[in-house]
Amino acid sequence: MSWGPFAEGKNDYFTNETLKEIGEQYGKSVAQVALRYLIQRNVVVIPKTVTKERMIQNFDVFDFVLTNDDMEKIEKLDQEQSLFFSHYDPETVEFLTGLGKKTVKP
Ligand SMILES: NC(=O)c1ccc[n+]([C@@H]2O[C@H](COP(=O)([O-])OP(=O)(O)OC[C@H]3O[C@@H](n4cnc5c(N)ncnc54)[C@H](OP(=O)(O)O)[C@@H]3O)[C@@H](O)[C@H]2O)c1
Repeated sequence: MSWGPFAEGKNDYFTNETLKEIGEQYGKSVAQVALRYLIQRNVVVIPKTVTKERMIQNFDVFDFVLTNDDMEKIEKLDQEQSLFFSHYDPETVEFLTGLGKKTVKP
């Protein structure tokens, strides 16, 4: 499941040249290519937008199919590190597992 399918716009996401070029072949935006890529990998997507036009655009991803070549190009964009935090980092794990614990004041 992708809770941030656009990586919250980090790393100049919406101007990525590879995604732009692929989208031009289908008349689709970077956002639409990204959503389509995830959907074709069976990842559930939860994109956020406050803009009605973008919301309509984000639903409009079921009338084109990315080729294996497109999929491989996008896969190569993976930088193999989180833009947010790592679930393998002990400090992150301690923070997350501590969230439910009650704080007892002395
Ligand atoms: N990421 C997490 O860790 C996390 C955790 C818990 C809950 N959630 C929830 O999961 C959802 C994911 O949202 P998110 O903000 O985390 O990340 P996101 O969906 O990756 O990115 C949202 C950003 O993309 C922009 N955007 C959306 N559609 C666009 C389009 N078609 N073209 C250009 N820009 C577009 C939005 O701008 P505009 O709004 O200005 O259009 C916003 O700046 C939200 O409902 C969030 O509350 C996320």
